Amino acid sequence: MIILGINETSHDASLSLIKDGEILFASHAERYSKKKNDWYNNKDIILDALNYGTPNAIAYYEKPWLKKSRILLRGGSSDWKPHIPLDLPVKYFSHHYSHACAGYYTSKFNDAVIVVLDAIGEYNTSTIWTGENNKIKLVKKYNYPFSFGLFYSAFTQLIGLMPNQEEYIMMGMAAYGDPKKYWKKVYEYFPSINFQKYNFHTGINDWDEEITEQDKFDIAAAVQKVYELRLIEFMRYAAAKTQKTKLVFMGGCALNSSANTALWDIFSDVWIMPNPGDSGSSLGAAAALYGNHINWKTPYLGHDLGGKYPVTEIITSLIRDKVAAVATGRAEFGPRALGNRSILADPRDPNIKDKVNLIKQRELFRPFAPVIMAEHASRWFDMNFESPYMQYTVKCLQPERIPAVVHKDGTSRVQTVTKEQHPGLYEVLSNWYAITGIPILLNTSLNIKGQPLLNDKNDIDQWEKTYKSKVIR
Ligand SMILES: [Fe+2]
Repeated sequence: MIILGINETSHDASLSLIKDGEILFASHAERYSKKKNDWYNNKDIILDALNYGTPNAIAYYEKPWLKKSRILLRGGSSDWKPHIPLDLPVKYFSHHYSHACAGYYTSKFNDAVIVVLDAIGEYNTSTIWTGENNKIKLVKKYNYPFSFGLFYSAFTQLIGLMPNQEEYIMMGMAAYGDPKKYWKKVYEYFPSINFQKYNFHTGINDWDEEITEQDKFDIAAAVQKVYELRLIEFMRYAAAKTQKTKLVFMGGCALNSSANTALWDIFSDVWIMPNPGDSGSSLGAAAALYGNHINWKTPYLGHDLGGKYPVTEIITSLIRDKVAAVATGRAEFGPRALGNRSILADPRDPNIKDKVNLIKQRELFRPFAPVIMAEHASRWFDMNFESPYMQYTVKCLQPERIPAVVHKDGTSRVQTVTKEQHPGLYEVLSNWYAITGIPILLNTSLNIKGQPLLNDKNDIDQWEKTYKSKVIR
């Protein structure tokens, strides 16, 4: 059976196609429409998905009528009505169950606790499940308006950023702030794991002080600290309640790489699918209908540019220009560029940050991430686990040698690579290591400012025209 999974009417529409547990295609609507965080699937992504097979059934990631009832009865404004593109039977799964399935069914765990934390779907905002022998069971739920995600988003908005979109910028800003200044005040908004001051859906509406530019960083730092404290408490509670030692973590909150690292102190193993937010839920809904583990091998599941990984060209460009823009093969499923739509650069040069920032025209305080050969990771970073999808921020142990990929607070959001995971990127790193003695490159997303990651050939042409620079393909 071929199942088309759909996620739509949230901030990140996506499609996934699976056949008997194999993933044929998974991608985001925004990559095709060029509208960042596009809410709806468009003709181009539908046609690209259908290149990989003709579905017999559709799985949808939410229960639209339940969501509509929440909007009418409890408030919150969003769309709830999906556009189903094909005349096929549709099975609807709840928002948090789709998140749970996207995580558990792509994990290698048979027995685990599944925690889903996001802003809001229908009613649930924080849920704890168990996954045992392919069966997922709800253990505990917290409903709207209590919400980890809405708490974080409300403060994102308070400091002048876009809620539901720019939380990652606030997370980056936290390293530049002093958490002590607003710690007490922010703490009172979220004083325990089952109580919050009020419904954050309409933002923070009782902040009584003027907010200067430096305050924004201090508020970000305090919010990050309070979020981390509550997250750890919630995870300890989930572990104790279910008596499980392995964690599957899903929902938009699982994108908070600074907080995620502490999870390794609580659990023996952790799985965060590389697309844990709503855009991963098209795959979750498809897996829910399949009802079994699916064969997760790789996050490179989107539009296919074809070609062999251009190892020699990348190395030549890195030596000559210290930078290499690369677009090849299938696009990443998830928010991070993991080598197939990436700008790679020399991490040793402190000025490379400015050079890449000039290309990307983004805020100077935002950190750049390192990609490293997995077997070298523990020598360069304080970590004893792999981070194949850039989901954990850890302390850098040799910051003076790779200043371009170390954040203000001495940490880095690391991507580890093995030969099995990405043979081409691994070979690039291995050659780079032989030349420089450093098994690390800077890795950041290849996109035109304000636009999603590049997807197809037209996007590459557009990028080359805009920046008068070549993309290696
Ligand atoms: Fe969600």
